[in-house]
Amino acid sequence: MDETIVLCLLSLLLSLVPPTSGQIPCPDPEDISPCTCSYDEENGQVSADCSLANVSEIYSAFNDVVWEFNTWGNVAITELSGGIFGNVSFQHVFIMYSENLVTIDPSFLLAMKDTLVTVSFTSGRLEDFPWDVVPQLVVIEQISLDGNAVTTVPELQSSTLQSLWLRDNRITTLQEKWILPIFSSLALGGNPFSEFSSGFFADFGQFGSFYCQECNFGPTLNSGKLEFNTRQLWELHLEGNHITTIEAGAISGYTAETKLNLDENSITEVKEEVFRPILEVLSSGDGIVSLLDNPIQCVCSMAWLVLNQTLLEHVVGNCENGPSFQELDPFHFEESCMKMNPPMPGGHSTWVSSHLGVIPFPRRGRPAVDRE
Ligand SMILES: *[C@@H]1O[C@H](CO)[C@@H](O)[C@H](O)[C@H]1NC(C)=O
Ligand SMILES: *[C@@H]1O[C@H](CO)[C@@H](O)[C@H](O)[C@H]1NC(C)=O
Ligand SMILES: *[C@@H]1O[C@H](CO)[C@@H](O)[C@H](O)[C@H]1NC(C)=O
Repeated sequence: MDETIVLCLLSLLLSLVPPTSGQIPCPDPEDISPCTCSYDEENGQVSADCSLANVSEIYSAFNDVVWEFNTWGNVAITELSGGIFGNVSFQHVFIMYSENLVTIDPSFLLAMKDTLVTVSFTSGRLEDFPWDVVPQLVVIEQISLDGNAVTTVPELQSSTLQSLWLRDNRITTLQEKWILPIFSSLALGGNPFSEFSSGFFADFGQFGSFYCQECNFGPTLNSGKLEFNTRQLWELHLEGNHITTIEAGAISGYTAETKLNLDENSITEVKEEVFRPILEVLSSGDGIVSLLDNPIQCVCSMAWLVLNQTLLEHVVGNCENGPSFQELDPFHFEESCMKMNPPMPGGHSTWVSSHLGVIPFPRRGRPAVDRE
């Protein structure tokens, strides 16, 4: 009976493995000795050799040891439920490009509840996921459902979950409370996403990275839209969101090390009231605001930035007509722009051109940025 299990497992592992390198997907050699595991990268095959092992050693190699389970492009899988792996428990399960996968039964996850650390069902047809069993997965760290048809994530609770990858699904809002004390990374890129419930991030004290490239935050990023509450926000990706306007206070909770990426939007102005508060925080560390490939008009309204080298060092960007912000000549801004008094509310100034009709920045020889 033990041998039957072993053979079943082997036939699952053989030929179903994506190209990876090194030891993975073999377990630690000591754990399965005297069986040996080898991985042929060229054919994507894992083989286990148990010629020197007795029956109980074989049983132990496959039942007491954590193997990684992979399938790649297996279109025969439509449903996964408990019992499929017998009593074998995996730590990492990657089921990728199973284009006909529509259902994951809670029993599939519960059968591995004590070992499952990473689970990834990418590029399938899942509209839902058994979220309510997540609290029972006692060591789960990462769930990936990239490239499915998920529309919503309900209330979610886990004391171990760190990252959730939900790219390229159909999520428009996240309204439910998630209780995830060590949650650090959320990827929502490629969803028509624009709404969090208020205070969504408030309890994620270890949150570090938010990815929402090609989400739906434009045209106006309203005040209070993204409020983080963490000491370590590393990355905030909002590329390609058709954002034209950012209101003051739209983003809060950045730190001196935050990289805020706003590339490939439709921002025309680097407004002082929006960007000075951010840059004042970022300039005490290595933080960066990136504004590449926006139709930015490098006119007097950005004199406040061009005339402050300290802040300028923390911005990457280019004018619509080509030059990078760093290539702009501060002398021209000083000559051609003047600060209007009194300053705007919040102490921010308004800079206007002192020569009517004159555009005071140099256009140096860079091709215009190619935008659609
Ligand atoms: C299998 O081999 C191990 C290690 O040599 C030994 O301890 C165990 O008794 C053996 N089991 C059987 C059923 O022969
Ligand atoms: C699976 O584990 C259960 C409980 O430990 C045991 O009763 C059962 O016989 C095992 N099944 C197999 C196929 O080894
Ligand atoms: C640049 O801005 C910083 C932060 O607001 C300020 O402390 C500093 O005095 C400014 N430098 C210049 C040259 O205006």
